[in-house]
Amino acid sequence: METFVNVDPNTPELSFVMLNDLHDRPESIPHLLNLVPEQKKHFVFFNGDIFDHQADEKQLIDNMLLPCVNCFAKNTPFVYVRGNHETRGKFAREFPEYFMQVNYSAFSLGPVRFVILDTGEDKEDTHPVYAGIVNFDEYRLHQAAWLKNEIESKAFKKASFRIVLMHIPPRFSGEAHGPKHCTMLFDPLLNRGRVDLVLSGHTHRYKVHQPDLNANHYPLIIGGGPANGKRTITAIKVTKQELAVTMLDDAGREVGSYKASRK
Ligand SMILES: [Fe+2]
Repeated sequence: METFVNVDPNTPELSFVMLNDLHDRPESIPHLLNLVPEQKKHFVFFNGDIFDHQADEKQLIDNMLLPCVNCFAKNTPFVYVRGNHETRGKFAREFPEYFMQVNYSAFSLGPVRFVILDTGEDKEDTHPVYAGIVNFDEYRLHQAAWLKNEIESKAFKKASFRIVLMHIPPRFSGEAHGPKHCTMLFDPLLNRGRVDLVLSGHTHRYKVHQPDLNANHYPLIIGGGPANGKRTITAIKVTKQELAVTMLDDAGREVGSYKASRK
């Protein structure tokens, strides 16, 4: 018999891992998770572009749900936010029938206030590939207004640490419209909110951007992928006093780290 116990919301310590940009490579899920078998994981976070596009239910099951169940999901939950590739394909609109939440949200767990942003597409809404049916500019504006309130909330301000999860990074991901719009809207709010950590993907090049008082006041950690040799798993441990991040490549080699104490 399998058992499933939800994380105690008052847990003094929290541990989770981030996988991102798998792009329809289901074998990456066990491979990367097996690199950190000793780490107690309260949840696994999928930070977008787990697929290239959404074709049908079989793809959803074979390339994500089944490897998750076989690996961890019988006992450990996962949290998932869309990347730009989760908005593509004829089955993209069926997502709400399979996942409770793949867009923006905020929740408190143990010492952390989590904020998840749904960064949308990388091209302009008017680009011919979207056939006039998307409006991500307005959606990002709506989220920026929501984030402005969130950073003023008691739950956000009182948390030991504030962690933001978003597929397209708020900086350092090129000159396309979506990334630039994310920088314009979200970066000032992340600075003003004294965010302790931002976890992203999208660029396919792993990198730890240290906090910079002239730019991103927060550390920005971008996971890599999807090709062999470029994939990463990012492990995060948080107590009431300390936050520690370790990023491993797919050979299990440490390729990035960050540590901070409570401000
Ligand atoms: Fe992406």
